[in-house]
Amino acid sequence: MFKKIFLAFPIFVAVFLTSCASSKKTTASSSAANSLKEAYKNDFLIGAALNAQQIEEKDAQAAALIPAEFSAITPENIMKAEVIHPEWNRYNFDLADKIADYGKKHNIKVNGHTLIWHSQLPAYIRTMKDADSVKQYFTNHINTVASHFDGKIYSWDVVNEALEEDGSMRKSIFLNKLGEDFVTEAFRLVQKAAPNTELYYNDYNIEQPNKRAGAITLIKKIQAAGVRIDGIGIQGHWHVGTVPFKEIEQSIIEFSALGVKVMFTELDLEVLPRNFQGADVNQRVASNPALNPYVNGLPDSVMQQQASDYENLFRLFLKYKDKVGRVTFWGVNDGQSWLNNWPVRGRTNYPLLFDREFKPKLAYYKVLELKTKKNAEQQKPF
Ligand code: XIL
Repeated sequence: MFKKIFLAFPIFVAVFLTSCASSKKTTASSSAANSLKEAYKNDFLIGAALNAQQIEEKDAQAAALIPAEFSAITPENIMKAEVIHPEWNRYNFDLADKIADYGKKHNIKVNGHTLIWHSQLPAYIRTMKDADSVKQYFTNHINTVASHFDGKIYSWDVVNEALEEDGSMRKSIFLNKLGEDFVTEAFRLVQKAAPNTELYYNDYNIEQPNKRAGAITLIKKIQAAGVRIDGIGIQGHWHVGTVPFKEIEQSIIEFSALGVKVMFTELDLEVLPRNFQGADVNQRVASNPALNPYVNGLPDSVMQQQASDYENLFRLFLKYKDKVGRVTFWGVNDGQSWLNNWPVRGRTNYPLLFDREFKPKLAYYKVLELKTKKNAEQQKPF
């Protein structure tokens, strides 16, 4: 009898939480005290990456939900060089200015993403052979874009993904043409062009020991040159069931010991199979029905595992809240996540806290409850 009750209890809790999840209104009525950003306001910023439609407030549900739930936003694509600097002599600030205005209007901090990255570059730079021209592009791009937004956005991912998995410098056009000091030089230029903006290095898999060591070397090099670096962004594209908790904890400890704040900048916990870790956007896998098992919905067991992984992650972030500056999800709802199309096109993925109808998922309630349920944070030590 006791055993039966004991076994039934988790199911009851799950059903209760799932029914809460489907009844929560996702309009602006998700009251302030009952939102992620309010719950975590004394701990760290809670962010989301916004696509162009969301920046333009074209979707009414998203337009209501984003300012209610999030205290930070990052443009998912529109500040990347191919959009913001489409030709040698032409900059396109239309949408980027909109996200800066959006942040001001809703009192949300905007993180610029990203100034120097080997991917999503405009064609004219991708094919450039001459080192002087690359140098000129590098300098002009940083000076023009960083100074345009100084005082209008909170922070910049100055350099994105400059490292290989073994911690050495990634073989990119910038390394090839400018040499390995390009990272320090980028920070030096932004520091001058945007003195009022925080400056971050951002990458995936830098919680893993070899790549983490490479990131530590980079940060130390920037600091030794007398150049400012305010934070490090661990992207956080992880998989349900294999979140590297121990490495994440060790990374928070080691990065913060360098005097920089630690951010989780592109968090998503995907549920679909893939045979490599990380987030190299150029890595592609051919589509195949076996790689897309949840077209008709996510099994409850996977939903539970995802909720528990998110809960444990946020418990860990809270343990180090004096070192963690921001936790940003890479997207708002499951339907809009890039993981529906990467590394395999056309899949049905479920990596975020809101479902395709913008309803909060079980994971949302688990994350919220860590702050709202009395003593939940202390109950289960991580
Ligand atoms: C992704 C966007 O989400 C996609 O829409 C785009 O097609 C490719 O880039 N690391 C990063 C992000 O730093 O800029 C990437 O964003 C995801 C991996």
